[in-house]
Amino acid sequence: MKNLIRICLFTMLLFVTGDLAAQNIHLSTPRTSLVLSAPAGGELKYVYYGSKLTENDCREVYNAPTMQHGAYPVYGMNCPGESALAVTHADGNMTLQMEVAGTEIKNTDGAVTAVIKLKDKVYPFSVNVCYKAYSDVDIIETWTEIAHAEKKNVMLRKFDSAFLPVRRGDVWLSSLYGSWANEGRLVQEPLEPGMKVIKNRDGVRNSHTAHAEVMFSLDGKPQENYGNVIGAALCYGGNYKLRIDTDDSEYHQFYAGINEENSVYNLKKGELFITPALALTYSAEGLSGCSRNFHRWARKYKLAHGNSLRKILLNSWEGVYFDINENGMNQMMGDIASMGGELFVMDDGWFGDKYKRNSDNSSLGDWKVDTGKLPGGIRKLVDDARQYKVKFGIWIEPEMANTTSELYEKHPEWILKAPLREPVLGRGGTQVVLDLGNPQVQDFIFNLVDTLMTNYPEIDYIKWDANMAIMNHGSDYLPKDEQSHLYIAYHRGFENVCRRIRAKYPELTIQACASGGGRANYGVLPYFDEFWVSDNTDALQRIYMQWGASYFFPAIAMASHISAAPNHQTFRTIPLKYRIDVAMSGRLGMEIQPKNMTGEEKELCRKAIADYKMIRPVVQLGDIYRLLSPYDRLGAASLMYVAPEKEKAVFYWWKTEHFCNQHLPRTRMAGLHPDKIYKVTELNRIDNQPLDYEGKAFSGAYLMANGLEMPYNHKVDYHKLSDYSSRVLYLEEVK
Ligand code: DGJ
Repeated sequence: MKNLIRICLFTMLLFVTGDLAAQNIHLSTPRTSLVLSAPAGGELKYVYYGSKLTENDCREVYNAPTMQHGAYPVYGMNCPGESALAVTHADGNMTLQMEVAGTEIKNTDGAVTAVIKLKDKVYPFSVNVCYKAYSDVDIIETWTEIAHAEKKNVMLRKFDSAFLPVRRGDVWLSSLYGSWANEGRLVQEPLEPGMKVIKNRDGVRNSHTAHAEVMFSLDGKPQENYGNVIGAALCYGGNYKLRIDTDDSEYHQFYAGINEENSVYNLKKGELFITPALALTYSAEGLSGCSRNFHRWARKYKLAHGNSLRKILLNSWEGVYFDINENGMNQMMGDIASMGGELFVMDDGWFGDKYKRNSDNSSLGDWKVDTGKLPGGIRKLVDDARQYKVKFGIWIEPEMANTTSELYEKHPEWILKAPLREPVLGRGGTQVVLDLGNPQVQDFIFNLVDTLMTNYPEIDYIKWDANMAIMNHGSDYLPKDEQSHLYIAYHRGFENVCRRIRAKYPELTIQACASGGGRANYGVLPYFDEFWVSDNTDALQRIYMQWGASYFFPAIAMASHISAAPNHQTFRTIPLKYRIDVAMSGRLGMEIQPKNMTGEEKELCRKAIADYKMIRPVVQLGDIYRLLSPYDRLGAASLMYVAPEKEKAVFYWWKTEHFCNQHLPRTRMAGLHPDKIYKVTELNRIDNQPLDYEGKAFSGAYLMANGLEMPYNHKVDYHKLSDYSSRVLYLEEVK
């Protein structure tokens, strides 16, 4: 190659061939490379995506590409193939034929962005295909920017964010599916011929039933700690569609973007349509390696306050449900303070003036405190919290109303509903969704938060809930010819409100809750600190759900609470020790009525909270290594977090099946430094005897080759014996 010009410093190499016509774009992150070919007047193509290339290999790969696949297939000139973009031009023509018009390289905060400008050969229609490669985390985000200068609107019928070809072989897909109270179930399957579609059409919440994130294991059955894996996360909080087409070619073809169903978009002349980013990662260290890449990126760039430790909280919901009152709140604050907690969150039930919020069938939208329940108002609560030296948080569900509410009486036109039809109603038989595409509704929601925060600047935390799907297609605000913009307009409006809130209240902690885990998604999380994993707080089932969520989301974002026994969702009775050991693997909190706990139980929690404070930086900021999957049904599950410098680690082991004399596998550890020596301390110990290895020190090499033997049961007094068993071990380097 002649005239090699290195344009960018360390993360981006743009090679220009002798004739200046063919450009080879090499984007890299610390451990990955993406190579594209972008010849002027030709087609933008993928050449390589995988482990980081040397300069030499990059050059050679360009000369002998590993793949030659169009990077953003469009519809019209290859009709039988799948496409990422399909439009109808103003004159009715349904074809596109895009050629490279130029490339722009931008350096922005820790990343290099390549914008490859494509233009149609005939129509004034353009698409920028963008790739943003981070210099310090192994993520490349890709999205498109679509615009035109045609005389009338161009109808966008399909508008994916990205396309990626994945070389066939024994490729397995890992994805998450589920439902309310059973979110984040992991499913792993080989990719077979045909089309695999993962989609959402809820309109509001998008991660109960399926997730917008996937991993492709390229070397056969997925392995946690070895093998090459591509990870992909669509950063969009609304309806999405992921498609993997396996046709007769050598590649699985992966498309990801906003779900175009019932969402045709009429793009105006000069308007820019920006698709949400698809975050791509690649790891040669298995699924867990991919997760670590996502987690580092999430903490540094995606989550609100991703690198700040989270407070340990008590949430009132499962403790009192709607039965909010001043004394009850005061008692709960006192209890969480006495156990060492740092925050109390008052959940649903505190508001409603004309209509009281005593159940789920009224008052959403009427964000006025119910002075019958709380005569001293929120002022009294924040003052009480201050006295107990805990922070105060509050629940709201701002995107919704009930038909039994003053808001609905005043603004029936603010709800999503088809004209001429009675609305289909949601939770409580009266819930409706507000039209967030309407700027007045956006102002109303912003003002709700702004008023709360202005009146009570002490509010430290908001639990932002959303408990209904868009059931009714119809907006009073959108013009007739833009009714199909409804879903997209909703999420633009939602993000707009979130941006305004974040701009004014950057320090506020906000939880994304949506009937449990309905908003675990990187489109939403930049505005939120964490998400409520599920309304199901059963510790055993949480192991499965949190395991799944950990594929894409770091522990710091996963709200994980100790709740009552029997559990309120599964009615399973699980010993407190096990409930604590599971909750401590995420962002620890409590979701229980402390006044129903015994002194001994409170003491166990107090000790656990103190220990969690010690391990919190490792859990919340460390690297995850999943060791033994509950989905493999081997009778136990195990994972660990390792501090970045590998001087500390926390190991979790939970028995998931309970049979006499069952043989459980010994769990090898991972991620430690082989030469470091680690002292082992058991946390949350309930056994009368310490473990044989308590206080002993082992090399990382030994622990990773052999692991430690986990006793199948706890050695406790007879009346305390139970079928459950779990261990949390703290490993600390001995210097
Ligand atoms: C659904 C949430 O997921 C729960 O945690 C709780 O906040 C209720 N809503 C309150 O109505």
